[in-house]
Formats: sequence, C-alpha cells, structure tokens
Amino acid sequence: MGYAIEIKNLSVYYNSICALSNINLTVDEGGFLAVIGPNGGGKSTLLKTVLGYVRPQEGQVVVFGKKPEGFDMPVGYVPQSYSFDRQFPIRVLDVVLTGRLGKSSFKPFFRYGKKDLELALNLLEVLGIGRLKDRQMGQLSGGQIQKVLIARALAVEPRILLLDEPTANVDGESKSQIFKFLKEINSRVTVVLVTHDIELVYPYVKSVAYLNRELYYCGKPELKDIAVQPFKPCGEPDPGGPSSPTFENHGW
Ligand SMILES: Nc1ncnc2c1ncn2[C@@H]1O[C@H](COP(=O)(O)OP(=O)(O)OP(=O)(O)O)[C@@H](O)[C@H]1O
Ligand SMILES: [Mg+2]
Repeated sequence: MGYAIEIKNLSVYYNSICALSNINLTVDEGGFLAVIGPNGGGKSTLLKTVLGYVRPQEGQVVVFGKKPEGFDMPVGYVPQSYSFDRQFPIRVLDVVLTGRLGKSSFKPFFRYGKKDLELALNLLEVLGIGRLKDRQMGQLSGGQIQKVLIARALAVEPRILLLDEPTANVDGESKSQIFKFLKEINSRVTVVLVTHDIELVYPYVKSVAYLNRELYYCGKPELKDIAVQPFKPCGEPDPGGPSSPTFENHGW
C-alpha cells in the first residue's frame, strides 16, 4: 500500500505570518491520523493545503500521486466552522446531496439520480440520523449538524476524509459515536482528523501528529510517547523559551 498523502518540506505563509514551516509528513493509504496542537498551530492550514485551497510557498503536497488541484479530488472535507442562515430553508437530505455535485450522475437543474438519493439516505442511516432527513438544517443541534456534514463529505465517495474539529461543541456521547463511526469507515477511507479531544480520540486513531507551526511529533497515539517528547522539531535545534510546548502547558 502506498501513501494517500505525501507532504515534503512544506511551508505556508499568509503574507508575513508563517503558518507552517518545513513540514514533512506522510499518511499511509488506510491511515487514521489525528492532528493535534494549540490554537493557531496551523492544523486547519494543513488540511486546506491538502485540499489545494491554500497554495504552499515552499515544498509540495501530493495526494494519491497528484498535486491537489481541480474538483475531481477523491477527498471529502468537513470544515472547522460551518455558518449558515438558520432561517434558510434547506433540508438535511438536500445538504447531504450537495456532496454529489460534480459526480457523474448529477445534472444541474435536473433531478439527482436514484443512486445519489440511495447513497445519501444510507449515509444518514449509518450515522444514526436517518429520521432527520426531512428536517430543516436550522432546527438541528450542533452534534446533529456535525453528523450531517460528515454525511455530506462521505457522499463524495472519497478515498480520503479530512475533518477539522468535527467534535467541537458536541457532547461526550456524540463525540465517541463520531470517533467510533470514523474508525468503522477507516477500513475503506483514509481519515485525517483535527481535534482537541486528544484523550478521547487516542483509542480510535492509528497515528498522531503534533503541530505548532512546525511538526513536533508524528507517531503512535500514546499519551506517554507524546509526553516524553522534547517537543523540538525534527532536525532543528531546541527552540526553548516560553513558546516551547510541553504536555502540561498546551492548554487543552
Ligand atoms: N486567511 C488567513 N489570513 C491570515 N492569517 C491566517 C489565515 N488563516 C490562518 N491564519 C493564521 O495562520 C496561523 C495558523 O492558523 P490555523 O487556522 O491553520 O490554525 P489552527 O491550528 O487550525 O488553529 P485552531 O485550533 O484555532 O483552529 C494562525 O496564526 C492564523 O492566525
Ligand atoms: Mg483550525
């Protein structure tokens, strides 16, 4: 099995702000990676770079052997924040079906195909929210919205699923349900998940990357392994100083 994602010497700047510095990271096909780190550490930027939404100034990202550009990428994405007008009348099922846009059977201004509908309904069932299919999005709770967004990302039938804090504002029970679900689909889909719920997610993932502008750790998902790391970037001198993260002070 090859790499789903290969990131080499990647640096990303927003004008003068360095969001990512010299990142080297690979995700195996079939991998399940949790990306952790403090606010502003570059986690969302890393996902956006994999999606091709943000262009790197240095280095490169390769997704299944190709540069990430165009709409035919086999990648599903659940963004960190999803803002919508709660008064806007859109049903849950219709939101999931937007994941079918650009798929072969979808024709703009025509009805979506039977396969699209079956797939969307099945995803809602699998995520345990089939009964909500005709509800308006504006009537859902935060956890229910997250599940709809995961269903929409999976409606793309992706080979890679990128999720940016899908369990933020979700109760403990729903967090575990979402992580369990992701573990189940991981047999078919490579999963990269940004989260601050590190202790909860550890039993489910295969590897963990700690990102704080630079990549400080990438390896097994064991708290003790991360705790004993000196938290200096691979191949770099110890940055030292108060900004050097430790397991106690990173503020989760
Ligand atoms: N569009 C943008 N324009 C300018 N700076 C940005 C932009 N997006 C992110 N940044 C900056 O890049 C850095 C990394 O941001 P990013 O959103 O990737 O962090 P994060 O790890 O996802 O944080 P959080 O845990 O708060 O979501 C931060 O310093 C942020 O202020
Ligand atoms: Mg973020």
